[in-house]
Amino acid sequence: MKAGFIGLGIMGKPMAKNLLKAGCELYVNDLNKDAVAELVAGGAKEGDYETIGKECDIVLMILPNGAIVQDVLFGENGLAGYLKPGTVVCDMSSVTPTESCTCAEKLAAMQIGFVDSPVSGGEPKAIDGTLAFMAGGNEADFEKLKPYFDAMGASALLIGKSGSGSVTKLTNQVIVNLTIAAVSEAFVLCSKAGADPEKVYQAIRGGLAGSVILDAKVPMMIERNFKPGGKISINHKDIKNVMATAHSIDVPMPLTSQLFEIMQYLKVTGHFDEDHAGIVQYFEKLAGVEVKKVNA
Ligand SMILES: NC(=O)c1ccc[n+]([C@@H]2O[C@H](COP(=O)([O-])OP(=O)(O)OC[C@H]3O[C@@H](n4cnc5c(N)ncnc54)[C@H](O)[C@@H]3O)[C@@H](O)[C@H]2O)c1
Repeated sequence: MKAGFIGLGIMGKPMAKNLLKAGCELYVNDLNKDAVAELVAGGAKEGDYETIGKECDIVLMILPNGAIVQDVLFGENGLAGYLKPGTVVCDMSSVTPTESCTCAEKLAAMQIGFVDSPVSGGEPKAIDGTLAFMAGGNEADFEKLKPYFDAMGASALLIGKSGSGSVTKLTNQVIVNLTIAAVSEAFVLCSKAGADPEKVYQAIRGGLAGSVILDAKVPMMIERNFKPGGKISINHKDIKNVMATAHSIDVPMPLTSQLFEIMQYLKVTGHFDEDHAGIVQYFEKLAGVEVKKVNA
């Protein structure tokens, strides 16, 4: 296996490390030179766009947003200009389906394959190599990427045509972030009513309210640990993309639109760089109470 890898942030760095562990020859690129140096120390080679284009038939990227992806590929002296026909580019960033389709169309005109394959699982699963990949593109390109997905994740599913990986990720983000908001509202209620949220959590986690999100986020809320993980800023971007996509195809999103305004509040009050477990702070402000252990 040999690939270019662009974007070594919270997600990309552990994903690239798992590729190295699987024996992949990797050419890495990031604006953050410390992150590049860390990967090079682990056996990767640093690669500018020209080197990646020359050496690699597979290019993986996981970048903050769709505008940056477009710029890396098609900006002045962008990567696309250096790629060989037959190369497959996989964008694992969370972007709009429209942005994914634009990449696929522009690259197809250059005989370059493209698969949008955002991921779910956050930093812990990026580290464990147990991410879930949700892909959009053609079967042949997906098959070429499968060994890379297997080295970084526990599951990879081709949903359908270009853009459908991004549609799936938006669906995922609505469910994840609305669930965190619902959990937040409920735990503010029990806290103000005087119940120990730790005990409430232990009492309900085995029942119908139990979920991966409950287990991941309630302990963070109780411990007042909002170190990201998934930053509110990144999820704000995703929910903004959900609303833009929904508006473009006439899907009313009453709950998600309210969630977006909650995230706007968290943005203007300085919580943007915190984990999205920090959504609880909006509900705490409304009720004048904090979710924390009783007698803590
Ligand atoms: N953090 C999560 O829990 C999580 C979970 C699933 C999906 N995602 C998605 O994964 C993507 C990356 O998220 P993250 O949390 O790793 O973000 P991050 O901000 O930690 O990392 C992004 C990396 O991209 C690099 N970068 C930015 N512009 C660049 C450029 N022009 N060229 C090269 N490198 C550049 C940055 O230096 C940084 O290292 C986002 O689209 C996000 O929505 C994140």
